[in-house]
Amino acid sequence: MKKINVSLKEDPYSILIGSSIISGLNDEINKLKLYENILIVMDGNVAKYHSAKIKEVFKNSGKKIKYYNLKPGETSKSYKELNNIYSFLLENGYGRDTLLIAIGGGVTGDLAGYAAATYMRGIQLIHIPTTLLAAVDSAIGGKTGINFQKKKNMVGAFYQPRLVVIDTVFFKTLQRKEQTSGIGEIIKYGYLADKTFFSYLNDNVTKIYDGNEKVIEEVIIKSAGIKAAVVSQDEKETGIRKILNLGHTFAHGLETDLNFKVKHGEAVIAGVVAALYLSADLGLLNKDKLDDYLSLPLKIKMPRIFQKFNTKNVLQAMLHDKKNRNGKIKFVLPAEIGKMILDVEASKNAVISSLQKVTEVLNY
Ligand SMILES: NC(=O)c1ccc[n+]([C@@H]2O[C@H](COP(=O)([O-])OP(=O)(O)OC[C@H]3O[C@@H](n4cnc5c(N)ncnc54)[C@H](O)[C@@H]3O)[C@@H](O)[C@H]2O)c1
Repeated sequence: MKKINVSLKEDPYSILIGSSIISGLNDEINKLKLYENILIVMDGNVAKYHSAKIKEVFKNSGKKIKYYNLKPGETSKSYKELNNIYSFLLENGYGRDTLLIAIGGGVTGDLAGYAAATYMRGIQLIHIPTTLLAAVDSAIGGKTGINFQKKKNMVGAFYQPRLVVIDTVFFKTLQRKEQTSGIGEIIKYGYLADKTFFSYLNDNVTKIYDGNEKVIEEVIIKSAGIKAAVVSQDEKETGIRKILNLGHTFAHGLETDLNFKVKHGEAVIAGVVAALYLSADLGLLNKDKLDDYLSLPLKIKMPRIFQKFNTKNVLQAMLHDKKNRNGKIKFVLPAEIGKMILDVEASKNAVISSLQKVTEVLNY
């Protein structure tokens, strides 16, 4: 088992990574002296495949354990579901001395995390991410929240968990598009880290689809490690944390124009490709390196819907992104592996031509 520390000043915590480590969860809770009144909020698909294993963990633990199953899908990240969790907690006599364990993908983690952040002004929280995307991204860094009036993540809070447990056995039941979605974020980390990780990913990324446990564990350790290091330095996203947005400005525009029919990580793959072209176009990335850098995202088979977006509408959506200030789009662009340039502005034509490249070059 590998342990990564998220060294936040006020609320440091650990991320445990390994295969079948969920069986040791009760011991970890005891070691940290966490509360024994436990509510487990679990994604419905996770319950379908893994609930026997999870229930086994707390057999004979003597703790108060109840389960709340969540309907799978983004629509559950809602005020209604949040309300239901509050009611469930209250009706079952949960007080401030409660530990909430979120077991699922980003939807479960964001929603249950926000419930934990707000119920009785905050109860203890453990994240057990069961999608690749949640393992390398959403479960680390403390962002929680729900969607509101069809807008994503409009209501939320920064709230740190006491522990994150990443058990690779969960990933065996992921659908292919969910694997690709996680791979999108993993590819992003390939540019943020160092040449060794980039070339490791270049050689091995497709083995994630085959369930190669060694590769999966290796890439999660590295990716989660990068996210942990970045958020430790910049908990509330005022500076360096922006590098995590590589490819995301384009991705959000694409997701909006494609009516959220694509997975977030798929859009990130397209977004990274667009960012590479834009960076080369603006002279920040040496054109000789472009092909080499493109080789990684182009290894991934993408849905053909990425040939159907409208570049002008994507640009409009990017202009309306809530991360913009004064109507200007600010990009994170790679100059080299491990060297990002922050807050780059670009002309509309340059943005449009990078988007056009995406439709042409992606691997369908
Ligand atoms: N908090 C953050 O920092 C942060 C970062 C990135 C994304 N997010 C949020 O995360 C969400 C997306 O996360 P996601 O991609 O994990 O989506 P998700 O939680 O909807 O999970 C994707 C699908 O996989 C299923 N699933 C989960 N685990 C499974 C397993 N082990 N086996 C089989 N099926 C399984 C789910 O039921 C669902 O159908 C979005 O709402 C996004 O806004 C948050």
